Amino acid sequence: MSAPRQSKTVRQSRTQTTELVLPNDTNPHGTMFGGSLLSIMDKCASICARRHAGRVSVTTAIDSVEFHEPLRIGDVLLVEAWVNRAFRSSMEVEVTVSTEDPDSREQHMANHAFFTFVAIDRNGRPVAVPAVMPESKDEKRRYRQAGLRREVRLYLSGRLKLTDAPLVKDELIATLQSKDL
Ligand SMILES: CC(C)(COP(=O)(O)OP(=O)(O)OC[C@H]1O[C@@H](n2cnc3c(N)ncnc32)[C@H](O)[C@@H]1OP(=O)(O)O)[C@@H](O)C(=O)NCCC(=O)NCCS
Repeated sequence: MSAPRQSKTVRQSRTQTTELVLPNDTNPHGTMFGGSLLSIMDKCASICARRHAGRVSVTTAIDSVEFHEPLRIGDVLLVEAWVNRAFRSSMEVEVTVSTEDPDSREQHMANHAFFTFVAIDRNGRPVAVPAVMPESKDEKRRYRQAGLRREVRLYLSGRLKLTDAPLVKDELIATLQSKDL
């Protein structure tokens, strides 16, 4: 009999970093280059995934990247990453970037994305990770939505047929029933 799967809370791997936008990070228009921002987000997300998995974890997919507003030289960025859900070897890590006024400390949401990481062994093969144990109402909602997003993600990448996506199917049926058509 195999040992029960270990689980970790979202808090145990939540990761925050602070960055300053410098001239090197910007494009000819003086705003931050999207690739530089994605690199910062990827680093923060990879630390978070590594904390959750307890193993080296590699970026497998990035989706729903949203650049809400331009970032400029001198902006202070607060980057935050947390694991919404772990599957077998993969984890959905949500990352947000906010700007912070250094004087008032007022924060403003600027960017958002979902990263999928896979934990790997020494040979680069996927290995099982601990489950996520959501605690708060918000974490439970994100956990449920992460299951739906995973099916959509795998469908869009050609790895899953819609007929093999039970969570999406149940959600669709529940939505249609609630509309009382
Ligand atoms: C990540 C990697 C090890 C996966 O190898 P693989 O042969 O595709 O492995 P599998 O098919 O067993 O998939 C492993 C997991 O990844 C998930 N996965 C694979 N492609 C995915 C995608 N496009 N979106 C979401 N999840 C994906 C699978 O669903 C599976 O998850 P699960 O174990 O939780 O069910 C391999 O693709 C790799 O090494 N990629 C390069 C990673 C890298 O270098 N990243 C940095 C880029 S600069």
